[in-house]
Amino acid sequence: MHKITMLGTGLIGEAYTSALHGQRNRDQVQIAYSRSDDRARTFAAAWNIPEHTTDLRAAIEHPDTDVVVIGLPNHLHEEAVTLAAQVGKAVLCTKPLGRNAAEARRMLDAVEKAGVFHGYLEDLAYTPKTLKALRSVQNGAVGKVLWTRSRETHPGPHSDWFWDKAQSGGGAIIDLGCHCIEISRNFIGKAIKPLEVMCWAATQVHPIEAEDNAVGLVRYASGALGQFEVSWAFRGGMDLRDEVTGTEGTIWLNHWLRTGFEMFTATGETGYVAEKAEHPTGWLFPVGDESSALGMNAMFGDMLNALDAGQKPMEDFYDGYVVNAIIDAAYRSIASKQWEPVQLDVWRGADEIEASAHLTDYNADHYLIKQEKLADGRTKLILKEKVGGQVVQKVIEP
Ligand SMILES: NC(=O)c1ccc[n+]([C@@H]2O[C@H](COP(=O)([O-])OP(=O)(O)OC[C@H]3O[C@@H](n4cnc5c(N)ncnc54)[C@H](O)[C@@H]3O)[C@@H](O)[C@H]2O)c1
Repeated sequence: MHKITMLGTGLIGEAYTSALHGQRNRDQVQIAYSRSDDRARTFAAAWNIPEHTTDLRAAIEHPDTDVVVIGLPNHLHEEAVTLAAQVGKAVLCTKPLGRNAAEARRMLDAVEKAGVFHGYLEDLAYTPKTLKALRSVQNGAVGKVLWTRSRETHPGPHSDWFWDKAQSGGGAIIDLGCHCIEISRNFIGKAIKPLEVMCWAATQVHPIEAEDNAVGLVRYASGALGQFEVSWAFRGGMDLRDEVTGTEGTIWLNHWLRTGFEMFTATGETGYVAEKAEHPTGWLFPVGDESSALGMNAMFGDMLNALDAGQKPMEDFYDGYVVNAIIDAAYRSIASKQWEPVQLDVWRGADEIEASAHLTDYNADHYLIKQEKLADGRTKLILKEKVGGQVVQKVIEP
């Protein structure tokens, strides 16, 4: 059983505490930290948390807790990680790990030097659909991964600090792109190095300095491309979708809207519908178990089981650092309008990836490019001559 210091009682502090306390779990939030005493008290009462405080250091140094969970705004992650590492506690930090790679690297160094357990709370890598899809990809169900596409768009975040670049580190890319990038890394393979990024971004709607829309392409050493699409200006709720395209198969995942629960109400007396739902009446797409659909339950299961077993969780601070390095390259690409290299001063994956030509033999003289059955019953074969390289076609009558 672990006793937990929960830092932050906002949207994510609530979601994390709900995942930890929502079932008959053995782990317990012992103390909650919030800026405001009122909020800390209400939150502690709602979740049966024995203690609450407005003193960050005291929460982290609490004599009875062994795990610190960080659910604070982005600019406060480093301070909290540093304090937790200093007192030798396991530390689990929400996304993004840092506002940039330099900050993330200092956090990685702090936990590794202190020798404490560290987990990167990237919930969307743990959704039930993502975990099952990942196992299929790792088993070879889609062959070699060529292209992934991950999309998170919604009408914008719920607190002031997100919209202030100095505190958050950026706009929709740092806030939502971090999820998309890590989902793609999981599908493409974490041992495969991200090489360079091309990114478009714009502030199309809101009066802010940061971007509210962006599309980025991350090119990996295997030749795979990880595409991310993010928006703080999307209307209609929260759109969370992923795609994986491989040489032998395709996966499409939809996590949030129109996933099999659709309701029409004229009265709006539904209670809470789902995160970022825009309106209480008309056609609604409620989410049955938000904690599970967002990966929170599986994530804390993996984190705390790994801590008990002395193992590494699926997502740790090194992953958070790589994600920040990719995001830094995306921001450089927006400015330069060029592909920008991903600068990783620590790389722990594979050095060389064999560029595998995907050649299928048809016969001694030809490779097969494509075979297709036509409506009139004939089969067409598109072939490439092994000597000379000419492309030819052969038609087989029914
Ligand atoms: N799916 C996810 O993984 C997910 C979702 C939402 C937020 N987050 C992350 O969680 C962190 C917190 O986000 P949130 O949505 O809970 O934010 P929030 O604004 O809802 O809550 C912020 C919490 O931090 C406390 N706080 C302390 N000092 C503060 C300061 N100077 N300014 C503002 N708040 C301060 C507040 O009291 C509050 O308890 C961020 O890093 C965010 O990126 C992750």
